[in-house]
Amino acid sequence: MRTQLFQAVLAAVSVAGPAVAVLTCKVKALGAGQDDGPNILAAFERCGKNGRITLDEYYVVDTLLLTTGLKNVEIDLSGTVQYTPDIAKWSPQSLFLTYQNATTFWFLSGDNIHLYGGGTLDGNGQVWWEHQAAFPNAGTAGGSSRTFARPVPLTVGNASNVVIQDLHMIGSPFWNNFVYQSTNVTYKGININTVSYNSSAPPANSDGWDIYRSSFVTITNSTINNDDDCVSFKPNSTNIVVSHLNCNGSHGISVGSLGQYAGETDIVANISVSDIVMKNAQNGARIKVFGGSPFANSTAGGGTGFVKNVTFTNFQVANVDHPILIDQCYSTAAATCAEFPSTLSISDVHYINVTGTSSGAEKQVVVDLECSANCTDITAVGTNITPPSGSPEYVCKNIVSASDLDFPCTAPS
Ligand SMILES: *[C@@H]1O[C@H](CO)[C@@H](O)[C@H](O)[C@H]1NC(C)=O
Ligand SMILES: *[C@@H]1O[C@H](CO)[C@@H](O)[C@H](O)[C@H]1NC(C)=O
Ligand SMILES: *[C@@H]1O[C@H](CO)[C@@H](O)[C@H](O)[C@H]1NC(C)=O
Ligand SMILES: *[C@@H]1O[C@H](CO)[C@@H](O)[C@H](O)[C@H]1NC(C)=O
Ligand SMILES: *[C@@H]1O[C@H](CO)[C@@H](O)[C@H](O)[C@H]1NC(C)=O
Ligand SMILES: *[C@@H]1O[C@H](CO)[C@@H](O)[C@H](O)[C@H]1NC(C)=O
Ligand SMILES: *[C@@H]1O[C@H](CO)[C@@H](O)[C@H](O)[C@H]1NC(C)=O
Ligand SMILES: *[C@@H]1O[C@H](CO)[C@@H](O)[C@H](O)[C@H]1NC(C)=O
Ligand SMILES: *[C@@H]1O[C@H](CO)[C@@H](O)[C@H](O)[C@H]1NC(C)=O
Ligand SMILES: *[C@@H]1O[C@H](CO)[C@@H](O)[C@H](O)[C@H]1NC(C)=O
Ligand SMILES: *[C@@H]1O[C@H](CO)[C@@H](O)[C@H](O)[C@H]1NC(C)=O
Ligand SMILES: *[C@@H]1O[C@H](CO)[C@@H](O)[C@H](O)[C@H]1NC(C)=O
Repeated sequence: MRTQLFQAVLAAVSVAGPAVAVLTCKVKALGAGQDDGPNILAAFERCGKNGRITLDEYYVVDTLLLTTGLKNVEIDLSGTVQYTPDIAKWSPQSLFLTYQNATTFWFLSGDNIHLYGGGTLDGNGQVWWEHQAAFPNAGTAGGSSRTFARPVPLTVGNASNVVIQDLHMIGSPFWNNFVYQSTNVTYKGININTVSYNSSAPPANSDGWDIYRSSFVTITNSTINNDDDCVSFKPNSTNIVVSHLNCNGSHGISVGSLGQYAGETDIVANISVSDIVMKNAQNGARIKVFGGSPFANSTAGGGTGFVKNVTFTNFQVANVDHPILIDQCYSTAAATCAEFPSTLSISDVHYINVTGTSSGAEKQVVVDLECSANCTDITAVGTNITPPSGSPEYVCKNIVSASDLDFPCTAPS
């Protein structure tokens, strides 16, 4: 006799209008550390179209959640989904997404998806970070999938018209959220906490969000405590609105990294970032682009493309190393950048009301805008950032619109 997988209930629910029939699947946890993945997948199979899936218990997941082809689905996650920390199992079985060798535990895919409920996704990151610290070369970026891949707890992939709200995310082994080849995706009320309890094994690559080949993405009203990018606009992120975030301990809100792969064209355009509080961070408002490369097969620079129409508004920094940064020699040797400057162009970037304090890590330098070739239409108003001691300094290179900045530029030393 099989354990009952889930209760499927056909209920008449009124959704702002005439009553519609909604098939609800409520997943029963097996308990005792058994894998709830197959039952969760069965619930998506049965209720993933015009239905509702209720996840209100404590689930242990040891099976890839490949939930695709969803349509008009509500996912009420008020319980906890905890992924097993089984490196040997997940490294080959997590879904490989190619870009930066990212892989994922859960690929949520389809049209008109609403995930909500106040519950928790627990990535069990401690085990992964300790492995990463002990074997730093075990995987590159996300990993190489067969050996040591650190999966992303939630990927919204190949999806449209998605709302993700009121979730807690803890212990992500890698990026917390990946928005992959999707359009019209909104995140709100997300609480991300990526903290290690072992100072020899800090979280690695714990970005709040990475957006890739996606458009019309909104991220708002969320709190992030991590130690990599708070939000990162990766290649081909367009029409993105990020607002009302409280970021702590991060590497800032970053355009990029871009230009990593030789022969590729990366576009980041139409980005609005506003009402951000950024504390104890390496960067505030950042644009990071790899340098060039002589090798046609390079995965560490040499790509091209453009960044256009990016605005940072009402951005408060406190104890931030580089409050405003454009770096077109990211993760690249200075000599390589000198010989092969990045060909990715940057224009139409606006800083409005970036205020607060730097950490002093760069002494008096609070703004550092260094372009590989002329950056055009870069403007700043309302800039008021103070270093811990002395008066602020502003470094610029190849900024042709220096008269549209409300601070005096000096050349890099
Ligand atoms: C992906 O992994 C492969 C094999 O481990 C490695 O050669 C490659 O450099 C990695 N790519 C990135 C972008 O990290
Ligand atoms: C902390 O992580 C390091 C690196 O993986 C490991 O060697 C050490 O045993 C861990 N400490 C504890 C208390 O688990
Ligand atoms: C996502 O879409 C691409 C392009 O349509 C397709 O090749 C790929 O298999 C899809 N991925 C998944 C996991 O469904
Ligand atoms: C975006 O998705 C939301 C949620 O499904 C939907 O209400 C809205 O109409 C969509 N917007 C567009 C422009 O399609
Ligand atoms: C922001 O999110 C919090 C936590 O989810 C919620 O309580 C609050 O109502 C949200 N505020 C707005 C303006 O949406
Ligand atoms: C904020 O980040 C700092 C630096 O990483 C950390 O020490 C502190 O505990 C964090 N604060 C919260 C509320 O998590
Ligand atoms: C980005 O979009 C451009 C224009 O559609 C395309 O040529 C390029 O290949 C895309 N790049 C990536 C990394 O998807
Ligand atoms: C940016 O937005 C403008 C105005 O809506 C639009 O015309 C343009 O195509 C967008 N650019 C990209 C790269 O999506
Ligand atoms: C710039 O980007 C913003 C945010 O996505 C968008 O609203 C605006 O239309 C864009 N402006 C232009 C000129 O493309
Ligand atoms: C890339 O090309 C260079 C020069 O042709 C070659 O030396 C190197 O081995 C190649 N690397 C890879 C990973 O194929
Ligand atoms: C910038 O700050 C000033 C002074 O606080 C305020 O008046 C103005 O509305 C802000 N600008 C924007 C675009 O919010
Ligand atoms: C860069 O800008 C400077 C100053 O406006 C100008 O003299 C120079 O010709 C520009 N270089 C290129 C390659 O456009």
